[in-house]
Amino acid sequence: MNLPISEHINAVKTVVVPAAGMGTRFLPATKTVPKELLPVVDTPGIELIAKEAADLGATRMAIITAPNKQGILKHFDSFPELEATLEARGKTGQLEKVRAAGKLINTVPVEQDQPLGLGHAVGLAEAVLDDDEDVIAVMLPDDLVLPFGVTERMAEVRAKFGGSVLAAIEVAEDEVSNYGIFELGDIDAESEKEGIRRVVGMVEKPALADAPSHLAATGRYLLDRAIFDALRRIAPGAGGELQLTDAIALLISEGHPVHIVIHEGKRHDLGNPAGYIPAVLYFGLRHEEYGPHILRAAKEILAEFEAE
Ligand code: UTP
Repeated sequence: MNLPISEHINAVKTVVVPAAGMGTRFLPATKTVPKELLPVVDTPGIELIAKEAADLGATRMAIITAPNKQGILKHFDSFPELEATLEARGKTGQLEKVRAAGKLINTVPVEQDQPLGLGHAVGLAEAVLDDDEDVIAVMLPDDLVLPFGVTERMAEVRAKFGGSVLAAIEVAEDEVSNYGIFELGDIDAESEKEGIRRVVGMVEKPALADAPSHLAATGRYLLDRAIFDALRRIAPGAGGELQLTDAIALLISEGHPVHIVIHEGKRHDLGNPAGYIPAVLYFGLRHEEYGPHILRAAKEILAEFEAE
């Protein structure tokens, strides 16, 4: 399935999904289970991302994995023995679930030998791109940005302004030091009304006093191919890792257009228990089959907890 870029509805052929991190905030579960496979109700987070990538119109998902995280790739493969057993037992619903991931999008593995940072992970994806691709989408699998579809809006912004486009969320004061924070420039009034801003700088995890805004990068990026060259020109930053933020900041300093779309919806950080558990509850309550039971149980647990 190697369609030319012109046949992709949002002009994005490849979605890069960095999934080679160590998941230290979720130990001990992530000692052997990749955090990308932890279930949101019954579906691994990375399968939700694959669906989001397919809905964007991409045909390829480049998964950056670590040598010890091969289970992620297996999730998108067929599993003939299990499928045959389910088929023989007439369990068609479960069979559909087993096959769903593999049908969504063509996955391409890219191995990152060592966790040298998000920037390093994204840089490795260049090797799998076709010559006609001048943009990639990056979707962080531990970040659910709801309602799904913000990347489509970002593609519209790129069509208008060119360059690279990122998703942003407004964060509380006590949270700015956890995120990459944007410094904003002027933009026309109509774009401003639509929640679009021009970015003139980006600071990774600033102290509140140094934060140029409260708008933080979230896990969706539409990056011009120029990002790969920028990634080759940056030095390791915070934590000795190659930071994607630093490469974007370099592009901005060289006049590359960078805009953000301010996302008004919800965001769930699946990368730590405090974000993951509310995400499971959010989806669980809305689940056709399990929702009513989960609602009852959640109310009981809350009432008991408050009475303690
Ligand atoms: P995170 O910082 O959220 O993931 O990186 P992590 O490093 O696994 O988490 P902690 O801090 O140790 O708990 C954002 C995304 O980038 C990927 C991660 O897998 C995650 O999806 N990543 C990070 C890589 O692919 N390679 C890296 O070297 C670093």
